[in-house]
Amino acid sequence: MGFQDFTVDDYRVMDRIISVSRLSYEQSNKIAESLIYNKNVLDLGIGLGNAAKAILGYGNHVHGIDTNPNAIEYVKTKLGKNGRITYEVADAKNLRYNNIFDGVSCQSNFGPIGEREKVFDGVRIALKKGGAFSFTEQVPKMIEEFIRMLGEDQRRIISQGHMIGHEMNFNIALKKIHECSKNRKSEKIPKPDDFVALSRNYGFSVRDFRTILDGTMYNLVLEKTEN
Ligand SMILES: C[S@@+](CC[C@H](N)C(=O)[O-])C[C@H]1O[C@@H](n2cnc3c(N)ncnc32)[C@H](O)[C@@H]1O
Repeated sequence: MGFQDFTVDDYRVMDRIISVSRLSYEQSNKIAESLIYNKNVLDLGIGLGNAAKAILGYGNHVHGIDTNPNAIEYVKTKLGKNGRITYEVADAKNLRYNNIFDGVSCQSNFGPIGEREKVFDGVRIALKKGGAFSFTEQVPKMIEEFIRMLGEDQRRIISQGHMIGHEMNFNIALKKIHECSKNRKSEKIPKPDDFVALSRNYGFSVRDFRTILDGTMYNLVLEKTEN
């Protein structure tokens, strides 16, 4: 069970939970702030469109990709067809862009995408020199705390009545979301230092590093320093 099994309706239900949660808000804002001067941004795993929406808020252009066509269909209904966003069903592990983006974002996505080396390689080629790659990832030793926070966030959202009218679909979608979290728990998530070391191998330097969500996640902003 993973995001590839999500229907358009699952995306819609998940978005009802995530969009009002701190999880999405803090990540989206940090990513968008770090890409504020980037005119042309590639968003990897656009999913619910929350990072893309925050980046668009700064007036940038976003090209959002996702392997699941249902994500693209959902996000089109959410963010519409204005001139500053384009969409594509494409794989972040097989990027085919050459030197055209000022920024790349990846929110909450390295887990579901996997094979980080392939992503780094494609991002390096897609970015112009001086361009930024901003992503969020979990702090491995805080994963239990992260899952606890997520559960609390969901309970608060339900008790505040954000899910009214979606009970049937909600339970199905919630089960799928929990499956995805459990997969993360058993996966070997690299430490921030491992990511920094990996990024150096791909010609990036660290522009910024900050923890978010009470230290359970971090936002790493890399800069492409070599061609
Ligand atoms: C947690 S959601 C991402 C949330 C999103 N970044 C946002 O801001 O709302 C994960 C998404 O990543 C997509 N995904 C998983 N593997 C992918 C890959 N290899 N390439 C592109 N997208 C992928 C999934 O289909 C799913 O829609």
